[in-house]
Amino acid sequence: MRTPLVMGNWKLNGTKESVTTLIKGIEAAADAATNVEVAVCPPAIFIEQVANLVANNSIEFGAQDVSTNIEGAYTGETSPVMVKEFAAKYSLVGHSERRQYHNETDAVVAAKFVAIQKHGLIPVLCIGETLEERETNVTKTVVETQLKAVIDVAGIDAFENCVIAYEPVWAIGTGKVATSEQAQEVHAHIRSWLAEQSKVVADKVQILYGGSVKAASAKELFSQADIDGGLVGGAALVIEEFVGIINGAK
Ligand code: 13P
Repeated sequence: MRTPLVMGNWKLNGTKESVTTLIKGIEAAADAATNVEVAVCPPAIFIEQVANLVANNSIEFGAQDVSTNIEGAYTGETSPVMVKEFAAKYSLVGHSERRQYHNETDAVVAAKFVAIQKHGLIPVLCIGETLEERETNVTKTVVETQLKAVIDVAGIDAFENCVIAYEPVWAIGTGKVATSEQAQEVHAHIRSWLAEQSKVVADKVQILYGGSVKAASAKELFSQADIDGGLVGGAALVIEEFVGIINGAK
């Protein structure tokens, strides 16, 4: 059985005050949900604060993005080694906002995936199709291509120690959540496609759904056979919503 994982992606949000309020507001629910892993990905500047706030509860944390470089003349970057120094567990990689606004190609995403693993973090590989791609019925090809780009570089066995987040771009921040059937269909496809390469990986890898997940939709989404939790944006910033989503994964 795969353990459900509920992960908040805070994106570019938060203040020192709101970060403390949010962690304090969700920690009891995270601790009580003993069969659910709970994690948050704050902006890099709040990583140390989050590390201190979660030291005595069960919440894990990760970065939203890291550099492929470890140190040197790379202005503005954050290295996976720096993130690991604060005992982070995860780093997102290939989020559609990074692909779209920072021109991250599949090759860049693959290099970041390798760097994240190499330095002891678990990559949360984000994949998903645009509305146009869904409407032209190429969703499955798109997710396969995004996965293959990483597998070609990292190898299939690397997927034993990663998380996949299926986030249809048209559902992110739009309020248009995929139906549980739509999401399950793609999740099942991803798992069976992986199984052709490694049954061990396919059985083990957690595949999260992301895109307008709310407390009201979480339980139904997470009850699908191949949906192992969620990667949550907007609703991860609202205590009652995120607590509801954690409880929906129990
Ligand atoms: P929303 O939950 O705000 O749609 O964001 C999803 C997402 O992009 C999580 O990474």
